[in-house]
Formats: sequence, C-alpha cells, structure tokens
Amino acid sequence: MEIKVKTGNIEQDNAELIVVNLFEGVTEPGGATGAVDKALGGQVRRLIADGDFKGKAQETALLYTNGTIPPKRVLVVGLGKEEKFDLEAIRVAASAAAKRVRDLRVKSFSTIVHGSGRSSISLADATQAVVEGTELALYEFKELKTEAEDDPKKVNDMTFVVFDASKRPEVEAAVEVGRKIVAGVHLTRDLVNRPANYATPTILAQHAQGLANEFGLACQVLDEAEMAELGMGSLLAVAQGSDEPARFIILEHNAGRGDLDTVVLVGKGITFDSGGISIKNREGMEDMKGDMAGAAAVLGAMRVASALDLPLHVVGLMPATENLPSGKAYKPGDVVRAMNGKTIEIISTDAEGRMILADALVYAARYQPQAVVDLATLTGAVVVALGYHTIGLFSNDDNLAARLEAAGQTSFERVWRLPLFEEYGEQLKSQVADFKHTGGRSAGAITAAFFLSKFVGDFPWAHLDIAGRASTDESKPYTPKWATGVGVRLLTQFLRDWIDSPPTG
Ligand code: BES
Ligand code: MN
Ligand code: ZN
Repeated sequence: MEIKVKTGNIEQDNAELIVVNLFEGVTEPGGATGAVDKALGGQVRRLIADGDFKGKAQETALLYTNGTIPPKRVLVVGLGKEEKFDLEAIRVAASAAAKRVRDLRVKSFSTIVHGSGRSSISLADATQAVVEGTELALYEFKELKTEAEDDPKKVNDMTFVVFDASKRPEVEAAVEVGRKIVAGVHLTRDLVNRPANYATPTILAQHAQGLANEFGLACQVLDEAEMAELGMGSLLAVAQGSDEPARFIILEHNAGRGDLDTVVLVGKGITFDSGGISIKNREGMEDMKGDMAGAAAVLGAMRVASALDLPLHVVGLMPATENLPSGKAYKPGDVVRAMNGKTIEIISTDAEGRMILADALVYAARYQPQAVVDLATLTGAVVVALGYHTIGLFSNDDNLAARLEAAGQTSFERVWRLPLFEEYGEQLKSQVADFKHTGGRSAGAITAAFFLSKFVGDFPWAHLDIAGRASTDESKPYTPKWATGVGVRLLTQFLRDWIDSPPTG
C-alpha cells in the first residue's frame, strides 16, 4: 500500500472516500468532522441523534455526499471514550476504517490523523499509530495459495490530509517510521505463518543473510561444527534428533561501533517442536511451526533497527533447529554440557527452548552488552498464568524491566513481570548434574526463566515468554488470524526509548 501526505481541507479532497472520526457521546462534532457535517447539511449530527452511530471503538458509518462536496463517500469511525483515548485507540480506529474501506472495495482513500488535535499525544506518534493500525489490519498471508481469488479486495493507497501546512513534514517523517516498523512486523508474521518445511533453520539463515545484504547489517551463520567448536552442547543436543542442520544466526546493526550502547536480542528459533522423544499430543501439533516466533521477532526488530538507522549497536542472536524424535535424538535422563561448562540433566525433551537459549545467552556475554533481551515461545505455563493477552517478563534488573513495561504500554504489546525468587531454584536440583532443565508442575514459566538465568552473565537481562501472544486463533482489530508478529513493536519502542533516555551510569 502506498501512503501519501498532502495539505488541505479533507472535506474538499477529491477522494473516493474520506475518513473522519467521532468520540463516543459527542453530539456536536467539531474539527474536520464538524466541517463535513456542515457541508452535508447536518447528516453526522442526525446519525448521532437517531442513535445510528455512537462513536464506539471499531464502529463505522458510511455516508454518501451526493455532490455536496468533492469526496464521494464519508466514513465516520468511532474513537471510543474520550477519557480512554490513547495510541491504541488510534490503531484500533484506523484498523476499523481500513477494513471497512477494503470491504467496500474502495482502492484509495484519504484520512485525517486521528487524535492529532490532542496535546497528550504527539502528531508524529498519532500518525505512526494510524499507519500501524491500517497496514497491520490489512495484512494477509497468501503466498502458498495457488488459486487466485475471484474478486480480490485490496486497498492501493491512503492519503493523510493535513490542515496545517507547517505540520506536514512531521507527518511525512512519522509515516516513514510507521512503514518501516510495519515492514518488520510483516516480515515476522510471514516467517511465523510459514510452515516448517518453508522455514527451516537454513531458510531462516538465508533470510538473515538477505536482510544483511539489503540493509548493510553484519551477518554470521554458524554451522553445527562451529557450534561444537564453541561447546554449544545444549543447543546441539536438541539439534541431534533432526536431519535438518541447525544454525546459529548472528545479525549486527552498527557492528564495531564501540561508541554506542550494545543491546543483544536473542530469539528462540525452534522451526518445529514435536516435543522430541517426549513427543507432544497430535492435536494442534501443527501449531508448533510457530515455535520460532522469538527468532522471527528478532529478525523483524533487526530490520526495523537498521531501517530506522537507530544509533545503537544491536545484535540479534537466533539459535535455530528442529526438535524431533529419531534414533539420534537426545533422551530424558541424558546429561549434556552447555557452553559455560555447566551440566544439564534432561527431563523432558519437550523443554527444548531453554536448551538452545542457554548457549545463546552464554554467547551473548562476548558483546559485553548493556542489556540482553530474549524472546521465546517458551512455556505453556505462561499461558496458564497470563492467558493470551500478555507477555511474561522475567528480569534480573529493575531498570530494564521497567523499560520493557513502559515500551509494552506504548506499543500495546504489554508485559507483566513474574518473580525469579531464589527458592524457585530448588525445583531444578539434580542428583547427577549441575541442574535439571525442568522443575515439575508448579510455576512452569518461572522455573523455565530461572533455568535461563543460570546462563546469564554479568549484564542486565530480561526474558519475554511470548507463548501466549505469538499467534492468535481469533482475529483482532489489527491482527488477522495466526502469526501476530508480537515483539517487533515492543522491541522497537524499547530501543527508541533507550536512545531518548539511555540508562545512566
Ligand atoms: N514450544 C513449547 C511451548 C509452547 C506451548 C509454545 C504452547 C506455544 C504454545 C515448549 O517447547 C514446550 O514444549 N514447553 C513445555 C515445557 C515442559 C515440558 C516443561 C510445556 O510448556 O509444556
Ligand atoms: Mn517443546
Ligand atoms: Zn518449544
């Protein structure tokens, strides 16, 4: 979709359709909506008075202008309650408008920046939210369909009409930012939606290399021999059951810039999780093609970081392998040695994510990072604890945790912190090795995070368990079914906030 910006009065715009908005409960519309209402002889006020439009979130009403003003149609979109208004309300309103436009088979439309008149939200942030809500809502994954749709619905372009010409550059710049963020989310969604035979570790590595070529990132892909050389016995234990070779993918933005803070992003890249010898139930096993959503989010975030040219040294680490049963697979009771020399007793081969993250977290220390954030579809237990709306957050550093909480609010990829009290370590005591990798039925998301903490060096670290948020069985306002691309907007916001106010000391 193309996005343009122009200056003028939206009710005079020569568009097939214009989008204006209304807060819930407003009876006398002002601004652009008021101007449209006047030009249409009070039609918007009548809609409200007759109870046909309330201004609720996601509500839309279509009006025909019958030659009274240049645009053919006016779409009024609800913004919800004024006291609840925030960036998320803008994304949701933009998504409702975009989907209505698409369903009308209108190819091109103009819109105002929802929320632009409000002092608490900057024009740039509001514009970015409209771009996000619009483009994310219209995402589709169709690459494996060979039969063309009879009557495809596709919106070709959107134009922001800005009243105050002096504000046009701010809107234009924010459109660029929004588009780059959306491109990262869409990359992540594509990779997660792709089945495991179209997203092997080798294919993920090719994508990383492709990104590196396009954006000038540094890229290094370690094969199994190189991982063995480094002592990544934990990752290789998982990989040994599969005929698909494992890869350890490294992407770097601003490599070698010693003057910049270093943030390492680590993503779980299990391209298919059968459970291994501790095999999963057959129902829903196909969903385990999405067990690389952490790695995909890191790839998406790396794309955004470089597209926005963020002044940070950002490293992406993506350990990638399948988890399959075979005559060579690792087994319950096996003891393996991670890159930091610690020995691990395997209890369930289905707890494979923490195994591959362990070596990646040890590897992360070599960058002497100011922060390490890992993302993983790590446990079903985090879904039991927090459901499908919230990412589980675990951290050894209150400042880093607070930054992720704030970025979660802004991006609406919300996180909730769970504890890592020492006592949880009791559940990981092993008779034969330094520790077990699972801790029994209670506090499964926490014991998984606690296990990861054993491999974390002397740096601020946070773990995000995205198992409940990486895919969705229900479509949401701007998230169509399945891969959500979660993590990309959260990490982008976190990195941009870091640049605006770096941690002191
Ligand atoms: N990839 C799964 C976790 C998962 C479950 C992600 C559902 C998305 C949706 C992970 O590898 C796993 O199997 N975890 C086990 C851990 C257990 C064996 C300790 C789990 O949660 O059951
Ligand atoms: Mn598993
Ligand atoms: Zn898994």
